[in-house]
Amino acid sequence: MQGPDIKGRSLLNLKNWTPEEIRFLLRIAVNEKKNSREGIIKRRFEGKTLAMIFEKRSTRTRCSFETAFGEEGGHPVFLSPSDIQLGGKESLEDTARVLGRMFSAIEFRGFSQKTVEELAEKSGIPVYNGLTDEYHPTQALADIMTLSEEFGSPVGKNLCFVGDGRNNVVRSLIIICAKLGVNCTVVSPEALHPEPDLFEEINPWIRESGAKITVTADISAVNNADAIYTDVWVSMGEEDKKEERVALLSPYQVNDRLFEMTGNKNCIFLHCLPAVKGEEVTVSVFEGPSSRVWEQAENRKHTIKAIMLATLLNQDVY
Ligand code: CP
Ligand code: NVA
Repeated sequence: MQGPDIKGRSLLNLKNWTPEEIRFLLRIAVNEKKNSREGIIKRRFEGKTLAMIFEKRSTRTRCSFETAFGEEGGHPVFLSPSDIQLGGKESLEDTARVLGRMFSAIEFRGFSQKTVEELAEKSGIPVYNGLTDEYHPTQALADIMTLSEEFGSPVGKNLCFVGDGRNNVVRSLIIICAKLGVNCTVVSPEALHPEPDLFEEINPWIRESGAKITVTADISAVNNADAIYTDVWVSMGEEDKKEERVALLSPYQVNDRLFEMTGNKNCIFLHCLPAVKGEEVTVSVFEGPSSRVWEQAENRKHTIKAIMLATLLNQDVY
């Protein structure tokens, strides 16, 4: 597939990716989904290796990277922090330099954004952020792919995130929406609004794309939404905040009443998963006809395969 040259690049937070590069990844992902439906597997990662470091748990992200890479003939190696020296006995920099000599690419899921950035800087090979406390860029790609499947183009659509407005999923959503011209409204109690620094950064992208990005504590802002998106109230690593979050976020539960407030019978429901049903979303919405959560989960694999194809291989093989 012809597009901008992104071979050798890392995916850390999407900030340094142009809209054209992001749209190219999404086009590759759509093609990979079609190939997958038709049972076409080309073993394009033969002879390549992927280090997969997980400080936090994962189902979708781990399985997407591992199956997408492995089914194409690549060798993914799962590394938990209890197995390797990662900033413990050995400095992060030294581990990165060793991995850079043995692997084609590194996937990292963990706490600090600084860790994934240092891995990229010091390893010299493509590094993919599989979620940190601050960002979840591979998730945002699958989210936009799911919106595109539903609406043709996501441009100008109203995506409304309801819940914990300062977590990794929201921050990456804001970035991708600002770049691609998708309107994004974050509906969240004031105490959980995204940090203002992010809004300064996205200003130039919004001017170019025309996206409207707004933050409010007012639930009636869901009116006219094309998609309602939520995530867990307590992200990994914040377990001690459970009680406080339940108190703050209970009025923001995505339930049938909130869905009716959109006034849009074609509005869809999105969730990055895993979900805590009965907290951020009710079973009736989660299991209801508007829910697209399984498509969204499947799209993680196609978008992740697209990232690895585009950053590891020449364009003539995908
Ligand atoms: N959405 C997501 O990242 O899921 P996992 O935590 O299961 O990887
Ligand atoms: N915000 C959630 C996303 C999980 C995919 C977390 O960080 O736990």
